[in-house]
Formats: sequence, structure tokens, C-alpha cells
Amino acid sequence: TRSALSFEVNRRPDPAQAETIAKVHENPGFGKTFTDHMVVIDWTADGGWANARVQPYGPFQLQPAAAVLHYAQEIFEGMKAYRHADGSVWTFRPEANAARFARSAKRLALPVLETEDFLESLRQLVAVDKEWVPDPGESGEKSLYLRPFMFASEAFLGVRPAKEVTYAVIASPAGAYFSGGLKPVNLWISTQYARAGAGGTGAAKCGGNYASSLAGQLEGMEHGCDQAVFLDSSTHTYIEELGGMNLFLVYKDGRIVTPELTGSILEGVTRGSILELAKEEGLTAEERRVPIQEWKDAAASGDLSEVFACGTAAVITPVGELRWEGGSCDHRRDGHEDTIATKLRTKLLDTQYGRAEDTHGWMTRL
Ligand code: COI
Repeated sequence: TRSALSFEVNRRPDPAQAETIAKVHENPGFGKTFTDHMVVIDWTADGGWANARVQPYGPFQLQPAAAVLHYAQEIFEGMKAYRHADGSVWTFRPEANAARFARSAKRLALPVLETEDFLESLRQLVAVDKEWVPDPGESGEKSLYLRPFMFASEAFLGVRPAKEVTYAVIASPAGAYFSGGLKPVNLWISTQYARAGAGGTGAAKCGGNYASSLAGQLEGMEHGCDQAVFLDSSTHTYIEELGGMNLFLVYKDGRIVTPELTGSILEGVTRGSILELAKEEGLTAEERRVPIQEWKDAAASGDLSEVFACGTAAVITPVGELRWEGGSCDHRRDGHEDTIATKLRTKLLDTQYGRAEDTHGWMTRL
């Protein structure tokens, strides 16, 4: 099926010069520079989706009373556009992001944008800003990060689902998410905070969850760590996620374990893909509740060989140390070459950049 929306394209009269884009591509970092255009689509309770358009990237006109600024009725997605060696531009499992966006919309009482409209919005933006998609580069992992999002733009302070909503897509050249490159991240087990609770919004990709994770991240930083590990809110015994990434434990006996989806964990597209790739590598993939004590015990006994975090932005990042009040364990090793994390990471990136055959039908040309 095709998108029923027709997009009006209003190009910027003064798009960035090739040299300017080349300069950004040299060292893109993450989320700092934005392309020339953005997609915007309006929604009203009476009229549904309308005014689909590509327009110059720039500030929104938003009423101070816009509901999103008060009650955080907002959701988003994160994906990447990859340039292949022949110049073509592709994205990874966009239907999975479209489906999750629809689930997030339902949870936040926002309107659903049909999968085809979601996909078309990505195509429209990449079509006008194609030069902004970098070559993979020496690191082999530069891309154009795509950020679709939707928010309550109605100016109304009553607490009810907004009757006016804005959907938009912006794009930003991306290199490594963490400034240290593939340096391991150190994690702090948050004792003060949980990220999400039963029946809450933890499984939705909504801004509020990320806001909720920040105090835990600060707590971690106060203990010399980069990120926090959040445990389940009711018993404080099971691993959930990092707030922006899912977690995997790798055992020496060939098992790879990740917390099962309890309703308060984000269903990562990278997480799901790793589970499939791991099985193909002959590993035993387990999705189940994982007590934090299991992690500590397996680290102490030497049964655990690796721990890594995953997400679209950082792909797969090894975990260095795990720290908690009164203790720590260390997963750092000298080289990354022969790790399961590196093997899975390479496999994923090779598929995404067309360096390996896409045996799963995961890639969509934009
Ligand atoms: C991801 O892509 O892994 C994330 O969810 C992080 C993003 C919010 C920057």
C-alpha cells in the first residue's frame, strides 16, 4: 500500500554547501547538527492528518499553553539512513519502528500515523536531504540519524488527549553516540530511582521515560559512571534497561541473556535483531527475568564473559564496570576483536551498510 498523504515540498532557498556538509560529516558526533529540511504533518481530531509537507528546518511556532509543554504528551522514534557503496540510501527495519510508534501513540493517547505514511515521511525527507547522508567513513558507522516525533500542540491546559497534534521528522548526521568511540561504558545500579513501573509508559518511546532516567544517570555520574542500570520498580531485584539502551549478558557456555519484555522495558529494534543474529551464530538466546544478583554472582564466579548495551544510536557498546553501593565488578578486556559483542556488531553493521547480504529482509531502500 502507498501513503494516502500528498507532500508539498518547500525547499530552502539557501541549502548548505557541499563543503559545509563535508565538514559536518568529518566529525558528526551525535545529534548536534541538523539537515536543511524537516517533515511536518498536522493532525486535528476533526480533520485527521493534513498538510503533509517538507519545509526548511527551523523553529516551530508553539503556544506557551501547548499541552506537550505541560503534560508531556509526546512520543518519538530513532532510526538511521545508511549509504551503501553504490551511493544508494537504505534504512533498517522501518516497519518495526512504525509499529512501535503506533503502540507508543496508543499509550500516550496520540493519533496513530499509518505505517505507509510514516515510511513516506522518511522517504520525503531523505529525498531532499540526500547529500546529508554520510559515507560510512573510516569508523564504518557514520549515518544520518532520523528522528520522527509527535506531540500535543493544542493550546489547552485541561488534562485530556489533545485535539491538535503535530508530527515531524528531523535528521542529523551521526558518528559514534558516545564521545569515547567504542570505549566501554561504566554502569551504576540506581538505588534511588526506577525508570518505569507496572502499567506505566516504560514500553512506550515517550520523552517522559527519558526525562525519568536523567536523575538516575546523574546519580551514576556522581559515582564515576556513564549510565545507570534501572531495576524493576516493585522488587528492585531484576534488571530492566539503561534508560536509553537494552542490556545483554554473555556467558562463557554460549548463552546470551536479555531481560524479557515486562511492559516496562523498551522493545528495542536492535535488541530484537541481536536475538536473531545470536541464534544464527549458534548462541543460546534467553529472554527472561534477570536478577541483578545473577549478574554480580556470574561476574564473581567468572561464568560471565561479556556484558553489552544496545540501541540504534550506539549500536552495541561493551560494558566496562558495573558499580553499586559498596561494590563493583569489571568486564573490561584488552582487545575487542574476538568478543561476541564485536562479532554481532560487525554483522549488524555489515548488513546495514550493504557489506553483507541482507538474509532477513531487514533493509528498505529510501
Ligand atoms: C537509541 O537509539 O539507542 C536510543 O534510544 C538513544 C536515543 C534516545 C538517543
